Amino acid sequence: MVPGLFVTLEGVDGAGKSSHLEWLADWFRARGRVVRQTREPGGTPLGERLREIVLHQAMHPDTEALVMFAARREHIEQVIRPALAAGEVLISDRFTDASFAYQCGGRGLPEARLEVLENWVLGDLQPDLTLLFDVPTEIAAARLANAREPDRFEREQGEFHARVRAAYLRRAAAHRERIRVIDGSRTLERVRIQLAGILEPFA
Ligand code: TYD
Repeated sequence: MVPGLFVTLEGVDGAGKSSHLEWLADWFRARGRVVRQTREPGGTPLGERLREIVLHQAMHPDTEALVMFAARREHIEQVIRPALAAGEVLISDRFTDASFAYQCGGRGLPEARLEVLENWVLGDLQPDLTLLFDVPTEIAAARLANAREPDRFEREQGEFHARVRAAYLRRAAAHRERIRVIDGSRTLERVRIQLAGILEPFA
């Protein structure tokens, strides 16, 4: 049986990751893989209820981080590990890097606090590949301006998103073996050429 493959998509709000999700799934399906798509926060019935709360209800930054990891614990147990054990390609729209970017970078929580949660909740589980869609904050903001009703994170001011972006890029620099940075300000076609190059070894 083929081993499972765990792929995560990350980036600031408006970086364009969602535009590529379906294309990525099709890329793997065209190579005979079974693909399962999921998202965080969410991905399970309980996780989706927690998502509703955390995206719309004001709370302490610690609470926010704990809710993200609570939803993640369910997600790993019910969706991620079973899919990987079955040899599927599991593509998650966000995962733990988002907590380091938003709750540490954006909200200012110490990374050491999240590392405790990461060790507890993830154990030895890490994505095989993380695609980080990176765009200058102004471009992301302009894209979001056309979006539907913004959530609590999308409503944050520019400096918040700049700190989130910087935290993502720091994390990419610290985990080069896993995180690949994609220039999301280019055309969809150019981005897909870059993505295809990154994916080739995983075919
Ligand atoms: P997002 O993935 O952008 O969904 P949509 O495209 O439907 O808006 O929304 C999820 C939000 O949750 C996003 O703003 C980032 C935030 N988030 C965190 O703050 N920490 C986390 O650990 C995760 C997974 C997401």
